[in-house]
Amino acid sequence: MRKRLGILLSGRGSNFEAIARNVIAGVLDAEIAVVISNRESAQGLATARSLGLKAIALPSKGTEREAFDTQLVELLRRHEVDLVVLAGYMRLLSPIFIRAFPQRILNIHPSLLPAFPGLDAQHQAFEYGVKVSGCTVHFVDEQLDNGPILRQAAVPVLPHDTADSLSARILEQEHRVYSEAIRIVLSGRYRIEGRRVVVEES
Ligand code: GRF
Repeated sequence: MRKRLGILLSGRGSNFEAIARNVIAGVLDAEIAVVISNRESAQGLATARSLGLKAIALPSKGTEREAFDTQLVELLRRHEVDLVVLAGYMRLLSPIFIRAFPQRILNIHPSLLPAFPGLDAQHQAFEYGVKVSGCTVHFVDEQLDNGPILRQAAVPVLPHDTADSLSARILEQEHRVYSEAIRIVLSGRYRIEGRRVVVEES
């Protein structure tokens, strides 16, 4: 049976869309069971609906974190999700959520972790003056932008760059590597040794 993805997003949803297009094209063997946003106005929800996917708004504003995450876990379980994919989900997850899906939550971060965790990573990297940045797909654990790394892509910082042009170049790589990382996890052909994700050759 095809593995079922649960996508969580808060905004634009371009990473989600890249994954969805790979699923539709048959390049990624999975099913998108549900797309959930904590913001009703998220562009990603509209994209999901236009692709005929189940899209749910679960507004988080005003709800205490644990209570909200408990609702989220229930919703994902109801949709029989195998793997949770954070795609621009701008909310910290509580231990309740993380423990409900052990090593079953992925995130993408727009820097080469462990450099520049947290918000606005592309701007942080640009202002720092690094010559290479990129993106990282990692398992989610209880610390921010911290879990074992599945995939990274390096991106050069060019002399004429602005933070925005650098972000756009990183985003192109995000769209490529996220599906690759999901494919690895769904295949089960990897093991985690400490912090290291060792991918078995096919
Ligand atoms: C991406 O830069 C991603 O790395 C970060 O949030 C942004 C989401 O963009 N976690 P989008 O909503 O997928 O377009």
